Amino acid sequence: MRTQVAVIGAGPAGLLLSYLLHSEGVEAVVLEARDREYVRQRVRAGVCEQPTVELLTEIGLGDRLVREGLPHEGFSLRFDGQDHRIALTELTGRSITVYGQQEIVKDLVDAHERQGLPLEFEVSDVAVSDVDTSRPVVRYVDAAGVSQVLECDAIVGCDGFHGVSRPSIPDGGLQFFEREYPFAWLGVLAQTPPSHEELIYTHHPRGFALHSMRSPEITRLYLQVDPGEDLSAWSDDRIWSELSLRLAVDGEFTLREGPILDKGITPMRSFVAEPMRHGRLFLAGDAAHIVPPTGAKGMNLAVADVRVLSRALVSLAKGDPTPADAYSDTCLRRVWRAEHFSWFMTTMLHTDPGADAFARRLQLSQLRYTASSRAAATSVAENYVGLPFGG
Ligand code: FAD
Ligand code: DHB
Repeated sequence: MRTQVAVIGAGPAGLLLSYLLHSEGVEAVVLEARDREYVRQRVRAGVCEQPTVELLTEIGLGDRLVREGLPHEGFSLRFDGQDHRIALTELTGRSITVYGQQEIVKDLVDAHERQGLPLEFEVSDVAVSDVDTSRPVVRYVDAAGVSQVLECDAIVGCDGFHGVSRPSIPDGGLQFFEREYPFAWLGVLAQTPPSHEELIYTHHPRGFALHSMRSPEITRLYLQVDPGEDLSAWSDDRIWSELSLRLAVDGEFTLREGPILDKGITPMRSFVAEPMRHGRLFLAGDAAHIVPPTGAKGMNLAVADVRVLSRALVSLAKGDPTPADAYSDTCLRRVWRAEHFSWFMTTMLHTDPGADAFARRLQLSQLRYTASSRAAATSVAENYVGLPFGG
């Protein structure tokens, strides 16, 4: 088999890249390890930056997003039992939209199926080779158990942090930058209307908590827990009472409880692999970098990468390698901005069990400054709503 671009992974990065390439006349094949339903249902991110919304709308994939997405013009920052609003739109003129990542993935899978674009689920034993040549190869076993060889002009690893693409680059081909955090997030999806019209990011001595949502009927909530925490230690009752304690503001906040539809624990790390390319193998999204979720940047970064990469691969197909050569440098500028912002939000909002009294005072001072200074709040807001796509 032959195609122009082999895309490994059908998350937001792989699906969007394939869609962008096809709309510019470049052929791509997407290979995904999981089955179709798993990919469509996986609960992950919820916040779309304005540039993400604009891109999806511009390429004709914004209908359901505009109809069902929830535009937000601010969020709450809570600490010391008090609520402070970060007025995103008043400060920046921009906004974010709450629309589940799995809804974007559904829209993209449906668009592929409608247009008959090649997308294979349940592939296994994916291996890349010949990436130092202009005819790289992907070998895999398809859903029917048949071994396949896919020759192409470029391979894009969109297979997330645990995929095969990044580890296939020989030692010395990449440099890694990493931070681990002494906490994780326990996330729940609950069948209950949101308890507040906006997102709430809370710093509490018992740990961080986040109130978010997916629709007027579904709430998404997160709690800071230990990285080694066992999910079975968290009964639904314990989750609700811990959330109530942490999200409370002096006197008047009632958390609406309801049946829990999904729960899971996510580790938190910062990670960047540089450069985001080795020969004809390009890395995009979580395959190249991870941010802790506190700034809601991961999916948006994946979208930004593939916006730059689709243009670069279209130029490459026309014989101009210059944008492909600049791909990694172009993306890494935005990646490092998001890395910094996500690290900043994480350290400002979580309760570090190892922090000394000096560090705790600094943290409280940063929270107070963010809540009270227009300049500090504007800096947070500008990063949160999303900086313009580079490249
Ligand atoms: P993924 O979504 O991980 O997709 C990779 C795909 O590759 C998967 O479908 C996987 O099955 C497939 N794959 C893996 N290995 C192979 C293989 N060997 N062969 C073939 N296929 C393979 N980001 C935000 O922007 N905003 C948020 O609000 C936000 N909140 C988050 C909350 C949580 C709890 C979590 C966990 C993440 C959150 N993120 C958020 C991050 C966001 O979900 C990720 O950054 C995003 O999914 C990255 O997309 P991706 O396409 O690069 O990778
Ligand atoms: C959600 C996730 C985040 O990481 C965040 O910062 C805000 C909202 C969410 O899943 O809704």
